[in-house]
Amino acid sequence: MFYKGKNVLVAGGGGLVGQSLVTKLLDQGAHVRATQYRHRKIAACHKNLEIVSCDLRNQDEARDVFKDMDIAFLAAARVRGAKQLQENPADLILDYLDLHAKLITLAAASKVGRCSFISSCYIYPDTGKPNRESEGFEGDPWIPTNYGIGWTTRYLETLCRYSHMTTKTDYGIVRPNAYYGPHDNFDPEHCHVVPALIVKATQKMNPFEVWGDGEQIRCFTYVDDLVDGILLNLEKNATCDPVNICTEKTNNVKDIVALILDILKLNVEVCYAPDKPSTIPYRVSDASKAKKILGWEARTSLREGLKKTIEWYQEQANVSMK
Ligand SMILES: NC(=O)c1ccc[n+]([C@@H]2O[C@H](COP(=O)([O-])OP(=O)(O)OC[C@H]3O[C@@H](n4cnc5c(N)ncnc54)[C@H](OP(=O)(O)O)[C@@H]3O)[C@@H](O)[C@H]2O)c1
Repeated sequence: MFYKGKNVLVAGGGGLVGQSLVTKLLDQGAHVRATQYRHRKIAACHKNLEIVSCDLRNQDEARDVFKDMDIAFLAAARVRGAKQLQENPADLILDYLDLHAKLITLAAASKVGRCSFISSCYIYPDTGKPNRESEGFEGDPWIPTNYGIGWTTRYLETLCRYSHMTTKTDYGIVRPNAYYGPHDNFDPEHCHVVPALIVKATQKMNPFEVWGDGEQIRCFTYVDDLVDGILLNLEKNATCDPVNICTEKTNNVKDIVALILDILKLNVEVCYAPDKPSTIPYRVSDASKAKKILGWEARTSLREGLKKTIEWYQEQANVSMK
């Protein structure tokens, strides 16, 4: 048990990845300090869990949470969906850059031994085939919305490498692809496609409007599987060598729609809105390196993962209506 007895920081413990990280680290015997921010509160409660409410953009507050940590997972972010990325990409990029650059360098300045950075598949050029890790710095992420965020992500991976070269901190880098699950952001203005569809289905929207043409292909990965990969990568591969962590299976948005409607036994008229914001049509990552060097592969089927996410969301919605 690599994490047992270690002091571990989860920056962004209230979010989709953060909540799963907190639970799994506590299960593995770590002493966890986790931060929460404005909206989502950390659900776990455990004698080895310290919860800190703070704004990690504030240098003093951030410095305090890194104190005496052996390991840090960077899972704080202002994550947004296609609408925000199209309407205000510069704002999103500045926020992403500011927060992550501060946290990556602060981990080293605080003498944290290992630090995990969750990179992104936005880094890849659009090749029309599954992207391998070696393509992360080839060509340009070409469509305008991906160009800015793609190059910013390349910079942040480079900052991890630079930080490792100049300090004793080791970094693990993973590149996820379209993950989803409980504790996601379900705010319709800002969320990704899976939570957006779950909100509409729970409201029994009819006609059931789907943004885009429904043909967008991704490796939809359940968050607990992703987090198993993030934990393994920092344990076995804290070398700044990036690894794609995603399911080998590909699906399009139409598959997600069909599964959600089937799980909820809803009979509604589905209408696609190609003029509404959506992202790049084909974004698939090659997951073979994770299997080879970490022995990791996704275990949760899309149906099972969506069912768990829907059940969690409905439970929250019921609680908030009581
Ligand atoms: N989701 C994606 O599409 C995606 C893709 C590639 C990489 N990543 C990276 O994966 C990591 C985890 O993201 P996620 O998907 O778990 O996102 P998430 O569900 O939105 O969680 C992020 C958490 O960070 C918190 N946060 C935001 N700004 C903060 C600040 N200034 N100080 C402290 N906490 C702050 C949020 O607080 P609230 O609860 O108040 O919102 C939220 O709880 C991030 O590093 C992100 O950049 C995400």
